[in-house]
Amino acid sequence: MRLEDSGNGREVSTAHPPIDPNRPSAARIYDAYLGGTHNFDADRVVAARAVELLPETPQIARANRAFLRRAVRYATGRGIRQFLDLGSGIPTEHNVHEVAQELAPDARVVYVDLDPTAVLYGRHLLGEDPRTAVVHGDLQHPAAILAEPEVRNLLDLTRPVAVLMVAVLHFLPDGPAMDSALAAYRDAAAPGSVLAVSHLTSSGDPAQMERVTDLYNRAGTPLVPRDAAQVARFFEGWRLVEPGLVFGPQWRPDGEPVSEPARYLTLAGVGER
Ligand SMILES: C[S@@+](CC[C@H](N)C(=O)[O-])C[C@H]1O[C@@H](n2cnc3c(N)ncnc32)[C@H](O)[C@@H]1O
Repeated sequence: MRLEDSGNGREVSTAHPPIDPNRPSAARIYDAYLGGTHNFDADRVVAARAVELLPETPQIARANRAFLRRAVRYATGRGIRQFLDLGSGIPTEHNVHEVAQELAPDARVVYVDLDPTAVLYGRHLLGEDPRTAVVHGDLQHPAAILAEPEVRNLLDLTRPVAVLMVAVLHFLPDGPAMDSALAAYRDAAAPGSVLAVSHLTSSGDPAQMERVTDLYNRAGTPLVPRDAAQVARFFEGWRLVEPGLVFGPQWRPDGEPVSEPARYLTLAGVGER
């Protein structure tokens, strides 16, 4: 794993929780799918097994990032200039601030992740950019996240915000913590705000999804795929914009529609308040 200074003179932040290289992490496994370098052997073993079980896994990860980009462009096009990216992952290509600031240089982004590698590398990459911050936290604790100084300094929640929960909710079990977190972010978001969600689903190919779920569960990073009705519930209090909740590649595609979108095992949607 390379986390050394990139030669731009900035120092790597040391204010991060400890990283356990022997325990696979969802963030680092995903980084491996995307061809990143911020992963260890323990992560690569799980990633390689996932690809054996489901050779399209790297494409699925890339298609998910493409949905994220389209959702960010959509929000920016609606005039939104602030983004709360919950479960943001290890920075890779086309990060939220890069996509948003291409259209709106004044866009501000707070990245939040539970994973220390994502936090450490995110801080390293972003350095002193006053328009972005990386917060270490569990999205299931919205009061703590929303009270973080970086969130309060960068985001004005009296104005519309884009709340992004992309490829993260399937790591959370059903229950009151999840329900109240979703309600808290919704209630904190001013009218005109946007919620973007993508989520692994067993609706497309249940047998494939079950094999991948089993792998993640055994690796200690439990997965909870959900069907369309269960994912639609996350949009309670939001109006789903066209085309609604669909397989990821079907959400306002940039180019030609893909064949067999169900193969991507991911549902995606954007809601507005
Ligand atoms: C598959 S990655 C998705 C990254 C990015 N959102 C994307 O779609 O490209 C899922 C991320 O969610 C993070 N995560 C999982 N549970 C979380 C929680 N309760 N709070 C915050 N982040 C969480 C993981 O550490 C990981 O970085």
